[in-house]
Amino acid sequence: MHNKDAPSPKGRLGRTVSALTNSLRAQLFAWVVLTLIGAICINLYLSFRSADATADLVTDRTLLASARVIAEAVHVDGSGTVQIDIPPAALEMFDTGYGDRVFYQVVTAWGNLIAGYPDLPHPKREQVGEDTTFRADGMRALMLSHPVVGLNQDGPVSVTVAVTHNSQYAMRRRLWLSDFTKQLVLVLVAGLVTIIGLQRGLTPVLRLRDAVRERGRQRLDPLEPDMVQNELRPLVHALNDHMERVQNQMAAQRRFVSNAAHQLRTPLALISTQASVAARETDSARRDEALQALRSSTRQVTRLASQLLTLARAEPGSRRPRDDTIDLADTARRVLENLAEEALRHNIDLGLEAGEMPVRIEGDGTMLREMLVNLVDNALRYTQPGGRVTVGIGREGDTALLWVEDNGPGIPEAERAQVFERFYRIMGTEPEGSGLGLAIVREVVDGADGSVALGEAAGGGLLVSVRLPAV
Ligand SMILES: Nc1ncnc2c1ncn2[C@@H]1O[C@H](COP(=O)(O)OP(=O)(O)O)[C@@H](O)[C@H]1O
Ligand SMILES: [Mg+2]
Repeated sequence: MHNKDAPSPKGRLGRTVSALTNSLRAQLFAWVVLTLIGAICINLYLSFRSADATADLVTDRTLLASARVIAEAVHVDGSGTVQIDIPPAALEMFDTGYGDRVFYQVVTAWGNLIAGYPDLPHPKREQVGEDTTFRADGMRALMLSHPVVGLNQDGPVSVTVAVTHNSQYAMRRRLWLSDFTKQLVLVLVAGLVTIIGLQRGLTPVLRLRDAVRERGRQRLDPLEPDMVQNELRPLVHALNDHMERVQNQMAAQRRFVSNAAHQLRTPLALISTQASVAARETDSARRDEALQALRSSTRQVTRLASQLLTLARAEPGSRRPRDDTIDLADTARRVLENLAEEALRHNIDLGLEAGEMPVRIEGDGTMLREMLVNLVDNALRYTQPGGRVTVGIGREGDTALLWVEDNGPGIPEAERAQVFERFYRIMGTEPEGSGLGLAIVREVVDGADGSVALGEAAGGGLLVSVRLPAV
């Protein structure tokens, strides 16, 4: 087996990427997942901020409590000396098992050290915790001013307590993790439910796709609109309308083919009979007569076949659209020249009414000529000998006009719409003919965005008027 387009690795990747970007499901899911990831990132940040603030607050409260206990331990003895007896509880409250180290300092308002580390940095504001560094370690520090009885001229003492971050950070981490986990679960559940919802919402669309895909070439019955949601029903209706049009078209094609076969069979059977008659005939004069009839039948079949071919070519989409610019007056002149002999044979006065100015239209030159040939051919055919046929070309603003007028029997008003149908012929008209001439005319006129109308000529015959967009 040979595989003429084995996919290259790059081509396959490109196709996969384009299949994903073109997939409705992939797009919707990508949006949901991106939103989830965004929500998780924001959640990560916000829950960190809130855990951080809480841990700071708790640490600051402990520092304040410790400072207060230390400050209350300061007193002035009978000799006026400042004394301090720090209770162990003041520092033990930091003993939470994380190995934190605590430092303190007690100074008088004018800077005399009463107890603790002289070089412990002071926070700028009172009773507000602050991050600082002491002996190369990060610390949380807090300062408290406290009046001491008997120390009035020196003012209050200020107590600074600082503790390393271990316990604070551990608390922050714990708070953050529990908060984040709770929100993560919520976000994931919401995302999962959304994805399930999308999946369920898309199922009818996929079912519709499968229903269309599974249909064979011949199945054109309408799809059930209830199989999809309300918003998608117009799509199903549009599909059904389209299928109905295709179905009608197919039926018309079938009718046409069977009509055509029918039309061809009758004269072909006649030809076969005439050939047998001619073959059996011994009398040369009678044989000539039979051969003459044979030739006439053959001409008729040939004409029918060529009309069928012209009609097939005039149908939309059957040949590449051509945009020749043609001069209608010139085209008419040539067509009349070709049919002059025919007119002479019928003893009909064939004339052209056209101005000097060219009347230009855009379209398929061959087809437009074919249309004119069919109209003049009809006029010559159905007008009695001695009659008159006139072709006229003119222009009315943006519209090119072409009319063919005769003084034959005309077409009764009741039949004027039907004569454009394929194979339709008026009963009692001359036997030769296919009923395709006017069908070709209408097909060509439609293809050139024009219109055609039948009316009664001044002399009682048929007046065919064609209007086409001029350039
Ligand atoms: N100029 C005309 N005058 C009278 N009848 C006409 C004229 N042109 C067409 N018809 C009628 O319209 C019918 C359909 O014409 P057409 O489609 O050309 O088929 P055909 O000429 O092969 O019969 C003809 O059978 C004829 O009866
Ligand atoms: Mg005809």
